[in-house]
Formats: sequence, C-alpha cells, structure tokens
Amino acid sequence: MSKKHLSTSNVIGIDIGGTGIKGGIVNLEKGKLVGDRFRIDTPQPATPEAVAKVVGAIVAELMNRPDAPHPDAPVGVTFPAIIVHGVARSAANVDDSWIGTDVEALLEKELGRDVQVMNDADAAGLAEARYGAGKNIKGTVLVITLGTGIGSAFIFNGKLVPNAELGHLEIDGADAETRASASARERADLSWEDYAKRLQRYFSHVEFLFSPELFIIGGGISKRSEDYLPLLELQTPIIPAVLQNNAGIVGAALQSAMHFKLVK
Ligand code: BGC
Repeated sequence: MSKKHLSTSNVIGIDIGGTGIKGGIVNLEKGKLVGDRFRIDTPQPATPEAVAKVVGAIVAELMNRPDAPHPDAPVGVTFPAIIVHGVARSAANVDDSWIGTDVEALLEKELGRDVQVMNDADAAGLAEARYGAGKNIKGTVLVITLGTGIGSAFIFNGKLVPNAELGHLEIDGADAETRASASARERADLSWEDYAKRLQRYFSHVEFLFSPELFIIGGGISKRSEDYLPLLELQTPIIPAVLQNNAGIVGAALQSAMHFKLVK
C-alpha cells in the first residue's frame, strides 16, 4: 500500500538485545523519543518465536499511547547480528537458532505491518550520524559499540555501509571482541588503565585499516568514557556517543522510515 499518507514524524523503533528488548516512539524530526521507552526482559531461551511475542507486546503498548504512529506505519527493529535482506547471518551473542531466520518476515507476521530489521550497531551508528556526534561530518566515521560484544557502524558522508563487523577482526590471534568489549573488561576484572591498553591495540589497528575522520564510542560504557578515552593515543579524534541508550531505537525507526521513503 502507499505510505504517502502516513505521518512521517513519529515512528516506532525496537532494540532487541541479549538481556532486554526496548522500544519507543521516535520523533524523526528531533531524533528523540516521545514519552518513555518500554522494556521487557529478553525471554530465555531467546528463540525467534519467544522474542517475536515480546516485540508484539512492546508494539501493542506503544500503540496505545496518544503519540502512537499510524497503525500501518512501518516499525524499525535492531538485532545483534549480521542482517542481510532481513535474514540473520550470524549469532555471536544470541541463540544459534537465529542463523538463517528471516527476522523481518517473522516480525511482519507477528505485527501485521511492515518491518525493517538492521544490525544493532548499524542502527546506533545511523542515529549518531544523523542526530548525534557524527552530524555533518564528511568522510569516514566509525561508530564502535563496546558491550557484550563489539559492534561497528561504517558511515561515509552520513550514509551507512551496513554489516561492517569490525568487532570480529582477528588481532594477536584473538577475536577482537573477546579482548576489548566491555564484558571482556568485566570478565578479566581489568582496571581502566589495563582496559585502555586493550582498546589502544584495537583502535590503533582499526585506525591503520580505515584512516577514519572520527571514532564514536557507543554502548553503556560510553558513559564512563572519561575513564579510558583520555588514555588512548590515536591520530583520529575519539568521542563518546551522544544518544547513548536510545541510539538503537532511534536508528531503527529512522532506517525504516527511510526505506519506505517517509523521510530522506
Ligand atoms: C555481533 C554484531 C553486533 C555486536 C554488538 C557482535 O558480536 O557480531 O553483529 O553488532 O556484537 O551487539
């Protein structure tokens, strides 16, 4: 159906994570949530069917609000894996049963409306590029999220090049995210100084490979950036994300609206 009549300002974004599934109504002019976000724990085991039910419950709650979008408006969803044409192609930190699942088709069936699914770090990166720390930056911007894994978004002149997966670079014989993610720091109980050494190794390598204009750090740990970013020596400026917790929700909503040509 034609989406031309739909309001372009408010769109639902959903962020599927390993511990929580969060959703919100996003005002795309401001790049901000309208009202509170709504969160439900990720069901365990996090099978596709169980997760789809939770996404359905979150969308139902958001659609009851006065600022809810049109019932036919698309929904944007993030997922922590490689996503190609709506299908999950990896499962580094989620249940293996997701590999090969058409996440988009599954959620469209559950919600009865159009859905756009994208990688979680790509969503955060897109939101930062449009509304946050990467706004108006020309050239290559790399958004690196430090969480359970390491996620990455490759942005060039404000446009996303999807599924970069720079958390899985092999450095010194190890998968990078097993050494330098926020959970790797917790597992090894590292001081900020020792963690910064691991980040230094990681970011020096990524800088050498891509010579970006800017690094933006996302994930919960970006709130503590003053504890480790000043310890890094790089040629590239490195700054914390601005949207923080809501970047995924905002980016997913934006991507779905762009895909269906509700916004540019
Ligand atoms: C996954 C990425 C994801 C990142 C953050 C990595 O292990 O491979 O697809 O973006 O974790 O969740």
